Amino acid sequence: MRFRTERIIERLNTLASISDSENCIDRVYGTEAHTISGNVLITWMQEAGLKAYRDTIGNIKGELTSSKKGAKHFIIGSHYDTVFDAGKYDGPLGILLGLEVAEYFYENNIPLPFHLNIVAFADEEGARYNTAYLGSSAIAGCFEHEWLERKDDSGISLAEVLKNNACDNSTINNDAFIKENCLGYFEAHIEQGPVLCNEDLPVCLVDGIASQTRINVAWSGVSGHAGTYPMMHRNDAFCASAAFALEVEKIGKDNTDKLVATIGKLNLFPNTPNVIPGKVIHTLDIRSSDDDFLKEVSEILEDRATEIAKERNIDLVWDIKQTNPSVQCDETLKEVLRTSIKNSGIKKIVELPSGAGHDAVMVSKIAPVSMLFIRCKEGISHNPLEYASPEDIEKSLEVCDNFILELKKQYD
Ligand code: GLV
Ligand code: MN
Ligand code: MN
Repeated sequence: MRFRTERIIERLNTLASISDSENCIDRVYGTEAHTISGNVLITWMQEAGLKAYRDTIGNIKGELTSSKKGAKHFIIGSHYDTVFDAGKYDGPLGILLGLEVAEYFYENNIPLPFHLNIVAFADEEGARYNTAYLGSSAIAGCFEHEWLERKDDSGISLAEVLKNNACDNSTINNDAFIKENCLGYFEAHIEQGPVLCNEDLPVCLVDGIASQTRINVAWSGVSGHAGTYPMMHRNDAFCASAAFALEVEKIGKDNTDKLVATIGKLNLFPNTPNVIPGKVIHTLDIRSSDDDFLKEVSEILEDRATEIAKERNIDLVWDIKQTNPSVQCDETLKEVLRTSIKNSGIKKIVELPSGAGHDAVMVSKIAPVSMLFIRCKEGISHNPLEYASPEDIEKSLEVCDNFILELKKQYD
């Protein structure tokens, strides 16, 4: 166990060192660092005895093939892309735990009654195209071809990224697993919240994942001279977006039990100190465990944005980029996971909802899904201070081993 935990930590550090920025972890979809880290993952998968390759969208897939006739697939996965200025655990930890489990069965020659597939998803964060789950949507066969036209901040479309990598984007959904052949999916991930710290527990079950809507909002006013143009006659796009930002915060604070709402990215044009901002484009990320309520909030906020734009004589474009309904983890797999946690010597079993999105959302379209949360220091994530202790990683590895051993018992 100790050696395997050390190997996970060493690999986390190796991946963290592969970045597009010099001073922070930055591995968004389709960049040089992203491609290099994918190559490294292929090598590790091959060393672990898996047949490994990169699929069209860029998922790294490894398989420990079962010799059982008619064997189906059990998938373990998480993502290898990051947000900008990321921590090193969000995504990679789940991949590396899966890889250790596969390597354990391979090295010890323990036959499995199912193919064990380890998938490192190419894009979960959606940091480059504001469309999350590009990787897992492909393995679920629900990649939407209109996403290919989406452009990043430099105007490079997703289609161009694929073309530069000599990928035929018409075949993306051919990389999907066939639903009838999938037994299930498991993802281990840092909690990204404080509950496990407060409970003093290393791991817990996840019961479901909140619904999420991502919107791009564009405000177009009139740019002009900051020194000469009278205040009363301005159509300042930034002031309109700022008024809206406070409405977003208000609706979140009025509904703390069931809503989070965030404007995480904002671009100002022309972004110059002495020019009135003529245009602002920003994101809006809203999440709730109540799908109907989230839809209602989206409509309320669109109405509010329309009013603000009208009051200030500004043009508004409200562009919903992605909506994903909430997902429940599978009861049968949850029971297997409960047993695995108990068998790992953990007395208290806690179940948590996930406010964060995970690849399990997309994979749930083709397989029953299950998730394990691992304690992270002070619940901090999407931040370089993200940290999971070696002891907790070791305990989560034990749970992951036990989980696959339990499944083996059930399917043998
Ligand atoms: C990913 O971490 C997300 O929840 O957006
Ligand atoms: Mn993640
Ligand atoms: Mn994340």
